[in-house]
Parts: sequence; structure tokens; C-alpha cells
Amino acid sequence: MQEHFQDRIRLPQLRERITSAAEAAMWVKNGMTVGMSGFTRAGDAKVVPLAIAERARHEPLKITLMTGASMGSDVDKILTEAHAIARRMPFQADPVLRAAINRGEVMFVDQHLSETVELLRSGQIAPIDVAIIEAIAITETGAIIPTTSVGNSASFAILADKVIVEINLTQSLQLEGLHDIFIPKHRPHREPIPLLSPSDRIGTTAIQIPPEKIVAIVITEKLDSSSTILPPDEETDAIARHLVNFFKNEVSAGRLTESLLPIQAGIGTIANAVMTGFIDSPFKHLSMYSEVLQDSTFDLFDAGKLDFASGSSITLSAKKHQEVFDNIGRYKDRLVLRPQEVSNHPEVIRRLGIIAINTALEVDIYGNVNSTHVLGTHMMNGIGGSGDFARNAYLSVFATKSVAKGGKISSIVPMVTHVDHTEHDVDIIVTEIGLADLRGLAPRERAQVIINHCVAEPYRAMLNDYVSQASERGGHTPHLLEQAFSWHTRYRDNGTMMPGPGKSSGVEARLADTVIG
Ligand code: COA
Repeated sequence: MQEHFQDRIRLPQLRERITSAAEAAMWVKNGMTVGMSGFTRAGDAKVVPLAIAERARHEPLKITLMTGASMGSDVDKILTEAHAIARRMPFQADPVLRAAINRGEVMFVDQHLSETVELLRSGQIAPIDVAIIEAIAITETGAIIPTTSVGNSASFAILADKVIVEINLTQSLQLEGLHDIFIPKHRPHREPIPLLSPSDRIGTTAIQIPPEKIVAIVITEKLDSSSTILPPDEETDAIARHLVNFFKNEVSAGRLTESLLPIQAGIGTIANAVMTGFIDSPFKHLSMYSEVLQDSTFDLFDAGKLDFASGSSITLSAKKHQEVFDNIGRYKDRLVLRPQEVSNHPEVIRRLGIIAINTALEVDIYGNVNSTHVLGTHMMNGIGGSGDFARNAYLSVFATKSVAKGGKISSIVPMVTHVDHTEHDVDIIVTEIGLADLRGLAPRERAQVIINHCVAEPYRAMLNDYVSQASERGGHTPHLLEQAFSWHTRYRDNGTMMPGPGKSSGVEARLADTVIG
């Protein structure tokens, strides 16, 4: 083994630590907190977690699992099926884990993505025992060079007692130099983050830890999982068109230039489609200061629209993955991957004046947004970084299709059943019907603009009725408390938010049908 992997494990004595996934997994004991690399399916630990699951099938082994964000390679699924996860934070997007969370079997802590390592660093949550980090290589000084995501990997490796490294031979060595690892100082010695533009580099290209903390190295050849986003459709095209028109007006009014301000785009099909819409826009020299760089980032580079993109991970469809990573040299000087506490840092987001474009499950007539809980109770994925950006952005946009489940659900409701983003953090709501510009409006005005611009019939007439009846009762933010959730209970009981008789299957069946996966 010694003579192999000189380019991948450049500190010779560490080559003695190469072992199997099963051996490496033995460092993890029942009740431990494990921090794994991985952010929206990119750069995740891929083989040691499966060996942990294998052990959990035969012996008592339950862990608290922390990651950057969602994992690929079915890691969350396989660990859940092996009953190996007691607690999970800060984000997930796996149907099997989601179901276990909603059955109350896994305690899920839905956190702002910028906060997890702040809580760890200050000892406010249980410390990390073992970190498992995917790397392209380990340097001559024992520093870990991450792969397609940084996420929380740097702080996990720095704060953990022991570190296991998965060297992934399928991840190109050309990724070296892409990462910018900056770790804020402990308080009270914290200093400003010296980032004045998305392209600034303020840290190191690898995660420096004492090499003796690396207790095991596992060699893998497992590819990143591809993203699950769907291609743009008629409705997402319309959403993109409304936004492009809105930004054109902002430029005409002199509030923005043709390069806008750095853009953040959330996860999922809608956010990706909205970004794709900028290809046919008049804007030039765009930049991104985001978390996840999806297919659209590289489409925008190729179209000559985008000058620079800063993120925490690169998550691509299978086809795009091959195109981009076979030609990474073409993009590398226009890309940087940062720890998620920097990509999502409120201070930087406010300073740079980010245009934040995130997605809602449902929005209410006053502009409160629910991004996470179906019918107010059942977890979808988590808040992710949307709150980090929405609260601090120059402009906070939420996009959604006006209806879900073939029109049985209106995405605009009288009152959201769970609030992730309060009306105070929401400037623009956009659906395929149109765009509501809520800046400077009071609640009664916001309701009219949202209903008139974002809602299709018959839900528009129903919401207008609701608002006019509620307004008669008075209030700054009028509501009919006894009816505020009636749309949701009607969906629960009848299978549709539309009035009138509907099918009546059990509540659990309906929630299973509603919560994706
Ligand atoms: N009630 C129930 N289900 C709903 C719904 C509602 N009000 N609105 C949408 N859905 C369902 C859709 O029907 C779809 O299910 P399907 O795949 O079975 O058809 C699913 O939710 C996804 O909706 P879609 O409209 O395709 O949007 P998306 O893929 O862009 O995802 C979120 C939308 C909100 C689930 C996703 O963006 C998310 O998890 N956001 C929170 C985290 C975040 O914003 N991170 C951003 C920083 S990276």
C-alpha cells in the first residue's frame, strides 16, 4: 500500500492508516456524535457510513448525525433503515429518513445552515466525536483537500476528536485550489469576515488539522449522486419571465445595474429553472454568492452571462456532472467553494447585497412563507440556508407554483400552517401567474397585491372573500381565526382545498401522498 497513492496521501506516514470501511467504522461507538461531509448530495462520505449501518444491523449503535446538508448515495436511507440515527441535523432530503422523522423515530433538528458549527464551536450542542470527510487528497502537512463540497467539513474536522478520511479516486485532483477555507475566530476575539466581493479568497485551499487526528483513511471510487431536479417547464419558465421583467424594471429605475447584485438561488427544480431563465435576459456580468451551484450556474457560464460563482457545493445532473468535471479547468478560476458558515453568513450577505431567490411550499396572503412543513406538521426537507439569506438579503424573493398536486392544493393560503420566513423577510412573491412586489406595503395592501398577482381562479375569488370578511372584523392583519386553516383541514378531510365533496381516504394516506417520496 505504501508505494501507492503518493499523489493522494502526500504525508508518507499517513499511508499506514489506509484501511477498510468496516475497520474505519469501528471508531464510531454507540451514542457518539458523528459529523460527515456532504452538502446537497455533493462531496459526501460514501462508504464508512454504510459500514456503520451494517454494524447497526447486528449491534446496538445509534448516533447523532450532523452533515453540511442533504446526503447522496442513499446514506440517510440506509442508516435510517438500520435504525442507526437517533438525532439528525441540520438538513435532509431523503424520503425514508423523512418518513422516520415524521413518525417521531428520528429527532430532527431543522437548523439555519450557517448556525450548526457556531453552536458546536461554542459548546452549545454536544461535541463531535468522529468526523468522516471525503477528500481528493491529503497534503504534505496532513491538510485535507475536500471534493465537491465544503459544507461543514472544515469545522467538523477541526472540532472532532478523531477524523476518518475517505479518499475518492473518482474526484479529480484538478479540484485542488477550488476551496477557500476560512474559519471565524472564537468570541470574544471574532473579527469581521474580510470578504468584499464573491470572488475574494480569504482562507486556505485545504483543511489544516494535526495529522495525528487522522485515525483511518479509506480509498473509494464511488461517484457523487446526481441531482434530482427536473428540467424547466411552462410554469417555471413563466416564473423566470416575471422575475426577469421585474429586474429589467429595477434597472430602468436606476436601482440596479445590468449586472444586478450577487444572486443566491435555493435548491430544487424551481430555483434552478429561474436561474436558467437569466440566459435569455439582457443582464451581463452576473455573479452568484450562493450555497449550492446547480446545472444553471454552468449554463450561465457557458452562455457568457455569469462572471463568477461562490458556493459551498456543486450538485449537478448526471450529464452536466460529466461535462463540468471533465472540463473543470475551464471553470476553475471563476469558482470558489467555501464553508457554509461563510457562504451563508448574515454579515457577508448583508454587505454584498444579495438577491436571494428561494422556494416556498406555501405562502399566505400577508407574505409569511412555509418552506418546510406540509399541513403544518409533516417535515419536507428543512429550512436549509433559505433563512440565512432571506433575513439578510438586499432583496428576498420567494417563488412557488400557484398550485400543487394538480390544483388540489393552493400554494397561496389564508394563513400558513408553519412559518419559516415571516412577512418581514419577504419582499417579492412570484408564481407562474405573476409577481407581487411587497416592498413598502402594509399587510392589507400586501394581501391585495399577492391575491391579484399570484393566485389563479377559483382560489383568487376564495381569497378575496376571505380578506373582505376578515377586514370587516378589523385589525392590522385581518384574519378569521375560525377559518384560517380551513383550507388545510378541507384538504386533509376531502383531498382538495376546493370547496365541495371530495374523496375521503385516511389522513395518514393523504400525508404520505403529499410529503414527497
Ligand atoms: N403542500 C404539499 N405539497 C406541496 C406543496 C404544498 N403546499 N407545494 C409543493 N408541494 C410538493 C409538490 O407537489 C412536489 O411534490 P411532487 O414531487 O410529489 O410533485 C414537491 O412538494 C416539490 O415541489 P416543487 O414545486 O417541485 O418545488 P421544488 O422542487 O423547487 O421544492 C421545496 C420546493 C420548498 C420543497 C424546496 O425548495 C425546499 O425544500 N426548500 C427549503 C430549503 C431551502 O429553501 N433551501 C434553500 C437554500 S439552498
